[in-house]
Amino acid sequence: MTRQLAPDPKGLDAAATILRSGGLVAMPTETVYGLAANALNPVAVARIFEAKRRPSFDPLIVHLPSAEQAFALATSVPDAARRLAAAFWPGPLTLVLPRAAIIPDIVAAELPTVGLRVPAHPVARQLLERVGLPLAAPSANLFGFVSPTSAAHVLDGLDGRIDAVLDGGTCAHGLESTVVAFEEGRPIILRHGAITREQIAALCGAVGEGARVLERPLAPGQLARHYATRTPLRLFDRADQLPEPAATAALIVIAGSIPDAHRKGNLSTRALAPSGSLTEAAASLFAALREADASGASELRILTCDDSGLGRAINDRLRRAAVRA
Ligand code: TXA
Ligand code: MG
Repeated sequence: MTRQLAPDPKGLDAAATILRSGGLVAMPTETVYGLAANALNPVAVARIFEAKRRPSFDPLIVHLPSAEQAFALATSVPDAARRLAAAFWPGPLTLVLPRAAIIPDIVAAELPTVGLRVPAHPVARQLLERVGLPLAAPSANLFGFVSPTSAAHVLDGLDGRIDAVLDGGTCAHGLESTVVAFEEGRPIILRHGAITREQIAALCGAVGEGARVLERPLAPGQLARHYATRTPLRLFDRADQLPEPAATAALIVIAGSIPDAHRKGNLSTRALAPSGSLTEAAASLFAALREADASGASELRILTCDDSGLGRAINDRLRRAAVRA
């Protein structure tokens, strides 16, 4: 059984006790829920991989309460990383840096680096302060599926597989953190996310993209198929490309309203951000995918958004979700 804990002092204490004894607790962050374990305990970390059915080649992000504590786990920190941390921590940014010896191999999937993040969510911060340990936490979903943005989503995939979930309500961003590595001091985006390329470029100048050819992906955010729904998903860039409405189709429009010709005739329609706000669309994206997936539709149709700013991260998730195994 997985315990459901309230984010009050009693729940936080219970969560900290579980974590100190090597257990697993799902915690809310401002991006998505994370499945946390003591990052310094390899056995506890191994339980994360087991609970998620996550392949061991996929490294975990380590969460800390402050930049100072985060950088203490890196052997060197480029200027650009310091600048990004000063601007965006606490917040939805992960910095990949050379790892200190104290980080177990299993956390880093034996890479020479570690992903570090200082989350902004008050419950995650209180838990980090209380437990006094770095917390390794991937998204709290079964590997390859849609990330959870509520405690109920966490339980959908992991009930009975983890010790507890701290219920902190719905996540504000709804998209995972932006993952940034460095090459000769220059930032390279490995996964698009809540902090946009434009925001990073404004601080650091040139920004690279991590599509380098490697024997394995640097971030499974780079795996072709990820964030998958069970129902086949088709993407359309423009409204005039959408097929005729169908009683078996669920239509999701990322930004803007449902096109007139599609108001009737589909099984369901949903506009994530009628105002066009991509922030609003991102926040409800994963919940909408889950809902449509559970609706009985035999096809999910999605009208994507412009490929800039936050739209890049949204479309990236959708493209990976649309690849069938
Ligand atoms: O917003 C988030 O980042 C959430 C919350 C819980 O913090 N976490 C999350 O974790 O999305 P996960 O494991 O689902 O995705 C982490 C990504 C993976 O694609 C992983 O490969 C990459 O970060 N990553 C972690 N450490 C890395 C490293 N040392 N080198 C390259 N990529 C790394
Ligand atoms: Mg994930």
